[in-house]
Amino acid sequence: MKQRHATLGTLAACLLAALSLSGMTQDGKSTFLGSAEDNAKAMIDQGRHIFRFDTYGDEAYWTGQLQIQQSVKSLTPATALALGLKVDAQALSPSLVNAIKHGQVNLNDPAVTLQLIQQNAVLGVVGTFNNNTLTKVGFTCALCHSTVDDSVGPGIGARIDGLGNRDLNVGAIIATAPNLTPLVNLLSVVHPGITANDVRTVLNSWGPGKFDAELGLDGKVSNPMQMTNGVVTGTGVPGATLMPNARGLAGHNLHTWSGGWGTVTYWNALVAVLELHGIGTFFDERFDDATQFPIAAAAKLGHVSVDPDSDQVTGKLAALHFYQLSLPSIAPRAGIDFDPAAAARGDELFSGKGNCNSCHHEPLWTEPGWNQHTADEMKIDSFEADRSPGHAYRTMNLAGLFVRERGLFMLPQNKGRFYHDGRFQTLLDVVNSYDARFNLGLTDQEKHDLVEYLKSL
Ligand code: HEC
Ligand code: HEC
Repeated sequence: MKQRHATLGTLAACLLAALSLSGMTQDGKSTFLGSAEDNAKAMIDQGRHIFRFDTYGDEAYWTGQLQIQQSVKSLTPATALALGLKVDAQALSPSLVNAIKHGQVNLNDPAVTLQLIQQNAVLGVVGTFNNNTLTKVGFTCALCHSTVDDSVGPGIGARIDGLGNRDLNVGAIIATAPNLTPLVNLLSVVHPGITANDVRTVLNSWGPGKFDAELGLDGKVSNPMQMTNGVVTGTGVPGATLMPNARGLAGHNLHTWSGGWGTVTYWNALVAVLELHGIGTFFDERFDDATQFPIAAAAKLGHVSVDPDSDQVTGKLAALHFYQLSLPSIAPRAGIDFDPAAAARGDELFSGKGNCNSCHHEPLWTEPGWNQHTADEMKIDSFEADRSPGHAYRTMNLAGLFVRERGLFMLPQNKGRFYHDGRFQTLLDVVNSYDARFNLGLTDQEKHDLVEYLKSL
């Protein structure tokens, strides 16, 4: 005992000496070493602000080139809500919220939309005003990757960062822009003679909750033949994919539906520079492959570089990444969101007869490691897989599935929709398909139990 005390005493003395050497105070704070807790807090605050409000200077594209501020100026709140744009009630004064609740706000007056944008209340839409006149519009990550809890009314409530906006018809919104020449020019690399009207048709084909992040790289507008288990389940299906859930992503290696691109921070840089058209740097030599990425190769999209003083993206990647990974998945409530007894039986099936755990490893719900599978292995068509450098599908996260199955925070007609293109309407459709594709021999009761388990994740 004595011996140990002496050792501990010596250790404490050494530590104190080390602390004073490092300039650290005894409460663990040091400007020299820094504190993980302080850093985490600062990164989360900065990252949240970037995620919600930062346009990375993308006004230069959306306003300077596409002139989308013109269409925003004539957008009534009713149309904005119908297009799936969401309103953050917490950004509004209590009297305005009250007026909305009592139907005293004119939802057919475009001036009201501008007022909402001016108060930073339209998720993902950032306006610049000069004497109350809208001069510029830019978009942020929150446009597609957040929604509201509908506490004031449909589409109006408190922000929920990270849940995909399954109501947002972003294609229809872009299609309203007066000048689509930049898109026409890009797409004419693979579709010579394409017109602005053709581009509008493509954009309008996506529908709510979907966006085509690869269109500007490969020019593929639709999946000629959607196949599931060797059967044609659709032809000419728009190439857009569903806005994925971006909560509960920490620990996942590859991201997006098709994986193979890289990590969250890889994709963040790609989106900020190539999709939002923010002013920044993006590098990926794989885009020089003109067979897979004819547009990206021609336009050198893998070599976008701006000087450090004008770069409005690179310096934000660390905090943005940190914030995204800190967003927890939404926890289902036993007895409300799922039936606990059935879910307990489903748990056994998930790692047993259903063999789901062989890919969706509990509790990460994807593989620790290289988390993707070929289309052949999944017994579905390879259209979307082949648009990614990994030529595969990523084992998707399953946490928070109940939100979509129940249709929480979205219009009833947009609920459900699973797999990258939403080919399965409900979780039971997903389970039925696995049963058929992998000859699982599940009984109706077992399928039901498995669905309840999926809703409990
Ligand atoms: C116009 C809608 C839209 C905007 C704006 C948008 N995203 Fe996305 N995001 C998507 C879609 C659709 C996908 C799925 C892409 C795919 O798999 O092909 C996606 C996927 C992701 C993923 C992968 C999530 C996962 O694990 O599956 C991350 C991370 C992400 N986006 C980050 C961002 C960031 C950061 C921004 C802002 C710089 C942003 N996104 C802006 C639509 C959008
Ligand atoms: C061979 C690996 C593998 C196995 C086995 C597997 N999955 Fe999947 N799972 C995937 C991949 C890959 C995706 C993404 C497919 C896509 O989007 O096209 C996916 C997607 C899903 C989705 C949709 C997620 C979303 O956000 O839309 C659900 C639900 C799901 N799997 C449940 C299950 C269940 C239940 C089982 C067992 C019966 C199972 N999976 C077995 C690899 C697998």
